[in-house]
Amino acid sequence: MADLSVTVDGLTLPNPFVIGSGPPGTNANVIGKAFDEGWGAVIAKTISLDATKVVNVAPRYARMRASGSREVLGWENIELISDRPFDVWLDEFRKIKNDYPDRVLIASIMEECERDAWVEIIERCEETGVDAFELNFSCPHGLPERKMGSAMGQDPEILAEVCGWVNAAATKPVWAKMTPNVTCIVDPARVALEAGCEGISAINTILSVMGVNLDTLRPEPTVEGYTVPGGYSCKAVRPIALRMVMELATMMFGGGCGAPIPEGDELPIAGAFLDRSLSAIGGVETGEDAAQFLLLGAQTVQVCTGVMIHGYKLLTTLADGLSAFMDKHGFERIEDFRGHSLRYFTTHAELVRRQAEVKAAERAAKAGMVTKDAAWEGDRFVEQSDKLVSRGSDEEN
Ligand SMILES: Cc1cc2nc3c(=O)[nH]c(=O)nc-3n(C[C@H](O)[C@H](O)[C@H](O)COP(=O)(O)O)c2cc1C
Repeated sequence: MADLSVTVDGLTLPNPFVIGSGPPGTNANVIGKAFDEGWGAVIAKTISLDATKVVNVAPRYARMRASGSREVLGWENIELISDRPFDVWLDEFRKIKNDYPDRVLIASIMEECERDAWVEIIERCEETGVDAFELNFSCPHGLPERKMGSAMGQDPEILAEVCGWVNAAATKPVWAKMTPNVTCIVDPARVALEAGCEGISAINTILSVMGVNLDTLRPEPTVEGYTVPGGYSCKAVRPIALRMVMELATMMFGGGCGAPIPEGDELPIAGAFLDRSLSAIGGVETGEDAAQFLLLGAQTVQVCTGVMIHGYKLLTTLADGLSAFMDKHGFERIEDFRGHSLRYFTTHAELVRRQAEVKAAERAAKAGMVTKDAAWEGDRFVEQSDKLVSRGSDEEN
């Protein structure tokens, strides 16, 4: 039976499945439910010091289903961070840590670009006993209008400054949650790591417009006839999340932005951020989905929309699927295969070279030409030698 436990930034989780920040971690009640069901850790809904500035609208979700089926492929939200008062959250963090002392509770925090605000939110959360922080540099809607969320994650200078303030104040591990709404996610992630963050989480939602209602001619989700672009999540974003996690892991294992890890090198190879962690997010609903993120270098895998669709019992499906995958390959621990598939990414030019090499070998084999010394045969030696002679050199004068 596979061992699903992971130790990340000094925290031990019974399994790598983490509730991603959002509705599934929105109060002490539901966080308790997640721990009761066995989730490895919970990242609470993002909080800020002053919740009075947070005003949500309804409806605030829109879904894309597979044609002719109820299956949800894509999910857009225009939800803000938590609208619950900071002091209420502090009491609930205390209560959760009191009720579940051995379980990992991570506070997701967001603030405006003011040093004192970030220091205050860190210090007051730490007093409650939370185990780690995730910095929300990535919410793509609403908050960026106040220069928060993805507005910070898209600006390397501000990012470096804020991460510096946070890491000077925090005594607990800090993960920076990155936005996919950038050209190269590796660049801001490197800035966060250089500023001392222990880990990277990726991805938050992708800025999107779900669609336009062809009866009303209004875009969805429609609030009093209007909308704003929102954040896209669920299965549909998984391939994009896998690509970004691959790029982040490649950088953290020592490769460049999108540059392949040299063939033949044993992982991990020398790199700048081997001691840091990577938490993957985006469209996970099965253990097999999660295994792919782990194969691309993540230590933990977060799930948000999947829990909104399937409920907290999804953990059983996730754990069973991951265990079955590990048993099939004889992997006993997650570290046995973490990052394994990164080595199979390369450049297009290299794909072309490899294919040409294989084709040349096939052509030679078809023509009966010996291409490897082991292929020489005693009985066919003369014939094999003859086949290797260049015909132009062999013409009779
Ligand atoms: C309704 C909703 C609310 C969310 N709220 C937050 C939030 O408060 N803070 C945050 O960091 N991410 C938030 N997210 C983003 C998720 O944590 C996650 O990064 C994203 O949805 C992709 O993962 P998924 O496909 O598993 O949902 C929210 C996502 C959804 C769908």
